[in-house]
Amino acid sequence: MEFNQQQSQHPKSAEERAAILANPGFGDYFTDHTAVIDWTAGENGVGGQWHDARIEPYGPIALDPAASVLHYGQEIFEGLKAYRHADGSVWTFRPYANAARLNKSAARLALPQLDQDAFVESLRRIVAIDQQWVPTGDGEALYLRPFMIATEAFLGVRAARKVSYRVIASPAGNYFGGELKPVGIWVTHAYARAGRGGTGAAKCGGNYAASLIAQLEAEENGCKQVLFLDPFNNEAVEELGGMNVFFVTSAGKLMTPALTGTILEGVTRSSIIQLAKDRGMEVEERTITLDEWRQGIASGDIAEVFACGTAAVITPIGLLKNGEETIGDPDAVAGEVTMALRAELLGIQTGTVEDRHGWLERL
Ligand code: COI
Repeated sequence: MEFNQQQSQHPKSAEERAAILANPGFGDYFTDHTAVIDWTAGENGVGGQWHDARIEPYGPIALDPAASVLHYGQEIFEGLKAYRHADGSVWTFRPYANAARLNKSAARLALPQLDQDAFVESLRRIVAIDQQWVPTGDGEALYLRPFMIATEAFLGVRAARKVSYRVIASPAGNYFGGELKPVGIWVTHAYARAGRGGTGAAKCGGNYAASLIAQLEAEENGCKQVLFLDPFNNEAVEELGGMNVFFVTSAGKLMTPALTGTILEGVTRSSIIQLAKDRGMEVEERTITLDEWRQGIASGDIAEVFACGTAAVITPIGLLKNGEETIGDPDAVAGEVTMALRAELLGIQTGTVEDRHGWLERL
């Protein structure tokens, strides 16, 4: 797909950019450009085509106040990162997996399918024009946020006939801020993330909007993330507000909740499963209950717990707060297996460990 390019007339100065890159945080700053591709449905909403691929200066979007995304939340997104290697080249990690997941989410949200090569090309184009924004610090990368929104001005409830796909980019350090250290997780019993036949497996804004009240609950209880249990029995561990969860047993087995249709199919999740298998670890994807977590920590059978995602990479979990009950250790140190998997994953992404699965794509 051909992209037209309109260079920003007001890019951030080299000094401003350097100040941001010195301490990027997560999600606070954006690069100078954005990639856009529009889609218009065919006659009577049948078929449709993508058109007007372009790179534009980063800035506010002009949207009709009746745009369906503003009323019915017809929106999906992805998250992946661009990493600078020692020779200056810039790479991304498994972009076709994100492209495939975007299309799965699109199907669920009645949005159009985007050609996977066009998805990867949009990343290539934004990184090419904003490559000075790719950080070089340890554990830092340029976070890429592709998203698709329904832009048609129409208040009837049906799939929009005008859609826009965009990519923005944001230099990123540790998602939780500061140095990497084990985080505390809050179990919500009041709220569920997904339901039968719902959007739990899709990466859509609505899932995250619905998680925010539970995330507030977590923060009020001194925790960084919220854990959702299954919506049917309120027993099985599903996922955190914005990441998947893993357990390492004292026998060296890796366990993670199975993908049941209510859990996001994380690209980091599937990469960790592969890396663990490569190490000869047994991996179980199955139902894990809150009670198993509780008893596993008490008996020592569960040695380590961690969260993972593109933004979180691999972040150790120190303790779980379940109302008045505390499971785990508030002064926990990061587990050995957790940190070894993290180092290997980051090593592949940043080019210091061999990419034996061919996961990297040069941008
Ligand atoms: C990611 O890890 O990329 C996510 O999308 C999670 C979160 C920041 C919403």
